[in-house]
Amino acid sequence: MKGIFPVDKLKEMRTPFYYYDVNILQQTLSVIRQEVAKYPGFVVHYAVKANANPKILSLISDEGLGADCVSGGEIRAAIRAGFPAQKIVFAGVGKSDWEINLALEYGIFCFNVESIPELKVINELAAAQNKVANVAFRINPDVGAHTHANITTGLAENKFGISMQDMDEVIDVSQAMKNVKFIGLHFHIGSQILDMNDFIALCNRINELQDKLEARRILVEHINVGGGLGIDYTHPNRQSIPNFREYFVTYARQLKLRSYQTLHFELGRSVVAQCGSLISRVLYVKQGTNKKFVILDAGMTDLIRPALYQAYHKIENITSDLPIETYDVVGPICESSDVFGKAIDLNKTYRGDLIALRSAGAYGEIMASGYNCRELPKGYLSDELI
Ligand code: LLP
Repeated sequence: MKGIFPVDKLKEMRTPFYYYDVNILQQTLSVIRQEVAKYPGFVVHYAVKANANPKILSLISDEGLGADCVSGGEIRAAIRAGFPAQKIVFAGVGKSDWEINLALEYGIFCFNVESIPELKVINELAAAQNKVANVAFRINPDVGAHTHANITTGLAENKFGISMQDMDEVIDVSQAMKNVKFIGLHFHIGSQILDMNDFIALCNRINELQDKLEARRILVEHINVGGGLGIDYTHPNRQSIPNFREYFVTYARQLKLRSYQTLHFELGRSVVAQCGSLISRVLYVKQGTNKKFVILDAGMTDLIRPALYQAYHKIENITSDLPIETYDVVGPICESSDVFGKAIDLNKTYRGDLIALRSAGAYGEIMASGYNCRELPKGYLSDELI
């Protein structure tokens, strides 16, 4: 073992691959369960987009969480992993007809609807199936989040959601339709949010909207605040479980939930990020003009976050205890952005060493691509290794 890694077992395996620590995942799920239990009316859905590895999905569905899906493929994956259809919400700014039909056939809990044209299509397709679809409207709360520009979603200029000025109209339109039932409001302001003030700003906005709706005598049964709780990428060992206590208590204190309302969450990253690492082997250590490069057999095709968002993932040599040296850690792909980290301190590294890219359980394996005709990385859970 070095840190959390069973190095002797990992050494024998073909790299690169994702390694998921089941203990960390289960501890995380158990903290979520304990914290949510404090607040009757709170319901957590797992955002499948973060990681749809079938075994991970099964462990999460075994814990009783619902699923937040954004495609027909995710709905199928969730159902296959055991999530009951009645616990599935379906979001997305561009749902295809076949995806809407599939969701209707399964009888999912609710569609998070992002426009009137989409609402009309859902109404028509539901009519054709002789069904009534539950719908929640995704309202764009025009609340900024202190996170990376590419993953903030709640500002007026984003493509997501329905603007606040249009909320009354959409509700009125839906109430005149026969095959949709308006049951809730949905929000999501962004991802990797660590400043609770951002969530407080969302709560304040929802409180205002709720007051306006109440003045119109419109009752909303379900409020869905999306996901977004961030994790500690710098210290995956020190904080392997995100601060769910602080997160849920923020909503409990700040959001004026009515007694008849249910509050839904869609958590992705905070559930699965810290249990996963991308394990890779060092192909070469190369001396450049001014620095040394560690060239890995994993690249941006396996973990795209550093290239796409300049995201930081802690990098560790899990097979060396030698004194620290400084390297640029790069992948083998023919793109100059295929860099995992610059000026990284690692135990002195040689060809054949194993390198772990930490906190990669969310938006890692699922975002892998086959660019350069590379094989997709496989994912293994710690309890599968013999
Ligand atoms: N609900 C909605 C409507 C969302 O758009 C998202 C994420 C979530 C829930 C889950 O958010 P989380 O709890 O994971 O923050 N690929 C990017 C992240 C994109 C997030 C997209 N939406 C990354 O690697 O950082």
